[in-house]
Amino acid sequence: MQNISNNVLIFYVDLQCITGITYKQLNVKLNPYFCIRPLYTGLMIVDGKYYQSVWVEKNHIVIINQQKLPFEFEMLQLSNVEEVIEAISSLKVRGAPAIGITAAYAIWLSYKNHGRLMKDEYDKLVSCRPTAVNLKRGADFVFVPASGGKMTEKQIFSLADEFARNEIDACKKIGENGFSIIQQLYKKLQQPINILTHCNAGWLACGDYGTALSPIFEANRKGIPIHVWVDETRPLNQGSRLTAWELSNENIPFHIISDNSGALLMMQNKVDAVITGADRIVSNGDVANKIGTYQKALAAKEHKIPFWVAAPLTTFDFKTKSGAEIKIEERHGNELQLVSGKNLKSELIVDIKLFPDQFPSLNHAFDITPAKFVSKYITEIGIFSKIEQVYEKRNHG
Ligand code: MRU
Repeated sequence: MQNISNNVLIFYVDLQCITGITYKQLNVKLNPYFCIRPLYTGLMIVDGKYYQSVWVEKNHIVIINQQKLPFEFEMLQLSNVEEVIEAISSLKVRGAPAIGITAAYAIWLSYKNHGRLMKDEYDKLVSCRPTAVNLKRGADFVFVPASGGKMTEKQIFSLADEFARNEIDACKKIGENGFSIIQQLYKKLQQPINILTHCNAGWLACGDYGTALSPIFEANRKGIPIHVWVDETRPLNQGSRLTAWELSNENIPFHIISDNSGALLMMQNKVDAVITGADRIVSNGDVANKIGTYQKALAAKEHKIPFWVAAPLTTFDFKTKSGAEIKIEERHGNELQLVSGKNLKSELIVDIKLFPDQFPSLNHAFDITPAKFVSKYITEIGIFSKIEQVYEKRNHG
């Protein structure tokens, strides 16, 4: 039996299809079908165990319930596509790559439950959150080849698993590539690097590693002193709940700040770079990401601070011409009205109302950052200043 330590690449023969059990000694969830493949033990170590934010066990998809963090670490089993759609729509599983991975597994689950591909389930699934292109990418990666009608359930599962593995590998590479520009900054400044990030683009949002957070984790692990300004990211607080939780697990110094603080901190020379993730990056380089990202890009430009966007190739949508064509998800106003948190006395998680029901509200989940504000795109195939370079490298190597 091998001991797993962080970032160790081991090879194993996965016999779970024969034993039908989770490979408990490794605390890693394995592919239920026979295969030989490299297994990375990634970064997502919680209470000494390795997790991914989405995986499969027997007949279910299992997710870490992101709604419950940071106060509770809960796993949820999803047994059918309806439950998957509910989990994605309510942001129990969220973040562009993580919903792509979930969608890929959901196509397998749908096939498994019905003994055939279900187009109506596919249609509902791919439209349950419209902005992140990864959702459809994940579903299509499995649904399109499986539509030929010649694949077994086992083969369909392998496709979904391949998609998940590719996404996690891409995020690992994003970390390695992004590390190099943090290192350059550190060589230049010779002092701890202050990075501002928005929303959560870490382990949870991506299966493991993250997009925006992956280079930060890598730099920290390689000894570059880092401090992170964590935008709380209203209304659902993915920053203060999830990013802060991940950073504290990684022992990376951080401060949670209100979403309105970034520009002041930039003016005070307290931000050396901004890194965010993305939900869709289109042909002209415009970026859709969590609402509030655009403000940070504007402020960064004014203060000549690099604004980096980290995303795997599955987030690039070269068929859409510009940000104006991206559908921006509008969510229920009760996300602005209700705040969920721990009651000081009872320690129970409670929802409180910030304003009466009759007050109207408007809740856009994403905004568009025009390409001219993006200093670098950090991807698994390299770092690029211009969107055309990403396109070129992706197509011609
Ligand atoms: O609404 P969410 O929480 O799914 O929005 C997520 C984001 O905007 C992330 O920044 C984005 O998906 C990049 S994640 C790697």
